[in-house]
Parts: sequence; C-alpha cells; structure tokens
Amino acid sequence: MVDGNWDRVWINAHLATMTPGADDYGSVPDAAIAVRGESIAWIGPAVVAARIASAAGVPIHDATGLWITPGLIDCHTHIVYGGNRVAEFEQRLRGASYEEIARAGGGIQSTVRATRAESPERLLASARSRIGRLLAEGVTTIEIKSGYGLDEATERRMLAVAREIGREWPVSVRTTYLGLHALPVEYRERRSAYVDAVSGAWLEGIAASGLADAVDAFCESIAFTPAETERFLGAARRAGLAIHVHAGQLSDLGAAELAARHGALSADHLEYVGAEGVRALAAAGTVAVLLPCAYFTLRQRDPPPVDALRAAGVPLAVATDCNPGTSPCTSILLALAIACTAFGLTPGEALRGATANAARALGVAHDRGTLEVGKRADFALWAIDRPAELCYALGANPCVGVVYRGRLRDPV
Ligand code: NIG
Ligand code: FE
Repeated sequence: MVDGNWDRVWINAHLATMTPGADDYGSVPDAAIAVRGESIAWIGPAVVAARIASAAGVPIHDATGLWITPGLIDCHTHIVYGGNRVAEFEQRLRGASYEEIARAGGGIQSTVRATRAESPERLLASARSRIGRLLAEGVTTIEIKSGYGLDEATERRMLAVAREIGREWPVSVRTTYLGLHALPVEYRERRSAYVDAVSGAWLEGIAASGLADAVDAFCESIAFTPAETERFLGAARRAGLAIHVHAGQLSDLGAAELAARHGALSADHLEYVGAEGVRALAAAGTVAVLLPCAYFTLRQRDPPPVDALRAAGVPLAVATDCNPGTSPCTSILLALAIACTAFGLTPGEALRGATANAARALGVAHDRGTLEVGKRADFALWAIDRPAELCYALGANPCVGVVYRGRLRDPV
C-alpha cells in the first residue's frame, strides 16, 4: 500500500538505480522517486506517484526528460593540502620522472612543507574551490586522506579540516589517516621509529578522538615496504579502523595481497598487480579503486589489469585521487571518461565505480550508492539522453540538480 506520506517527490525522470537489473544501470524509465526525511521512501511509475502526490498534497518536482543517478561518491581524494606542484608538472614535461622528483626531496615532501605551514582556516579556504567543483558534478560523499603532515599535529589538523568540510558543506566526508605516505625528513635516519610512532601513539590518539574512519598506506619502493605497511595495518585493525592501501601504483610489491590479508575495504591504483594479487582481492571482497587521472597525469603506459580483475569478480570503483602531485583533478566525470577510454571500463562499470562500488569501498553501501527505498536520499539530476553520456563528454557537466539528504542542494 502506498500511503503518500512523503515530503516531496520527483516525477517523470529516468532512474539509473545502479542496482542489478535488466541493464548496466538498473534503469527504470518514466519513474518517480519520493523522499521522506533523509531517506528514499518510494520508487515507482511516475503516473502513480503523480496521482498519489496530488491527492496527498505532496510537493512535486517535475524532472521530465532528466536522468537521476545516486549521488556520486569520490572514494579516494587528498583534497586538503597546502600549495601546489605546478613546477613539478613542468619538470615532468621536461623529462623528469615522478620517482626522480620524489627522491630529490620534491613530490609529496614539497606538499608536506607547504601543508605544515598552513593554518586550518587556510587549508579549509584552499580546499573550498576544489570541493565546490566536485559538488557541482553531483558528488554527495567524498573520502579525504591526510598524509601531507607526517607529524602528529599536522596529520590531526588535516583530519580535523576534513571533518570540518563535512560540517560546512552539504557533502558527507569519510576521513582516512594516511600515516604511511612518505618518510618525513626529520626521521630520515630513523625509519622504524617513524613507523613505530605512526602505528603507536599517533594512531591511538587519532582513533580515540574519532578523527579518522580508516587508515591508508603507500606501499611502494619510494615510500614504505610491505613489512612496514604490515605493522601499520595490523595496528589499525586492532584500533578498529577500516583499511585502504595505495597498492601497485608504480611497481608490484605484493601490496594487493597484503591489503586483502588485512581485509582492506579497498586497494587503490593497481597498475601493477599480478594474478596472485587479483585472486587475493577477489577472495577478500576488497574493492579495486582505479585512479585514471593519476595514470594520465604521470603518463603511465601499463593500465591496471581490468580484464583479470573483472573476470575474478573484483568490484571496480573509480575516483579522482584529487591531489597536487599526481592528479590535480576535481572532476569525477573526467575520471569516469578516462576509466573508459584508457582502462577499458564500460560506461556502466565506470558509473557503478562512482556509486555502488565506491560506497562499498568506503564501507557505506548499507545506506548509499544505489537508488533503493530506505537508502539515503542522495541523488543527482542530469540533462542527458543516456547514462553513458556521463562518461562520454569530456569537460561537460550536465548536472542540473542535486538532492542531498532529501533536500535540493543549493549550488556551492
Ligand atoms: O595517490 N601515491 C601516493 N599518493 C598520491 C600522490 C601524492 C602526491 O604525489 O602528492 C597518489 O597518487
Ligand atoms: Fe592517492
């Protein structure tokens, strides 16, 4: 029985529910979606909704011709940072590699210097325009990592700023303590003391204060070894935090296997992962988060083994990786487009990667990522003829409205 006990309803739209269905998008044509409080109350035929809403005096939004998708989820960003790295962009175009720049003290270290020098207010102010661009593309949930502090105070400051973004803007934020991103210069001769601090007192304090939902580690030859990563992840699990790993971005050190062994929500990048790693991810149910804008920016040549990941049944997500070094990108739609063109995802897989599978990568699939009754009423309205257009038009933004927690969101 439909009671029409709704706060508002959108009618005459085509829904890409992203639930398993007849097509890649879980499409429901000529549909309506009704909201009560912060949740989706009803999904069904537009004609039925119009009749019920009129009789019950429910406000009706006419979405004729529009597509509605779940609010997009950017499940991997480093969007809070100081400064920028445009000079390194120029260096790379002159032939220097990302690794060479990092080994010479640039790269992540240069953003650490800039971030340490910033107040929370200035970090928040510089994130504002980047967040605004993501939100304009229908994003309703983002993950934000620390990792440009590399000392306890600055890591905490970054996480606090990330939390503040979720209070100040109409977007849900999941925060990640990226404790192992690079070895800070003051620990250059004391690697294990740094890993001890990150995995010990700093982690405990951050977990106890509720600043982080998860942890992350950059397991790579220019960053941290599998053994060091293992120590941190073990401590994070004992502290009750979820786990993400930057795995196989530049080489295969077995980080995907490590992530899977620790029950990671996601293993991210994965340009370099072997058959064993793919099997491990599949068995653990770990989401592969693909970051095509970093791949593009670094002019990498070997894409992630998408066919093998797909064949093994590893869920695929797609994110911006917004950061000043490898992915100065604030467009989730551009990430979807490159995921299709450079990595060979279908548009349906790419869109699932920024909705249902991104929700899974963040551990929030119980209430986000698909259009389903009972889930959060986070959705985006698009002036497109087919969902694949979201992955097709480079640099376009056909988003014409966003509903966040049941209410139309004002442009930020
Ligand atoms: O996801 N790979 C490590 N972390 C970031 C890059 C950080 C940086 O270069 O500032 C990434 O690509
Ligand atoms: Fe990253």
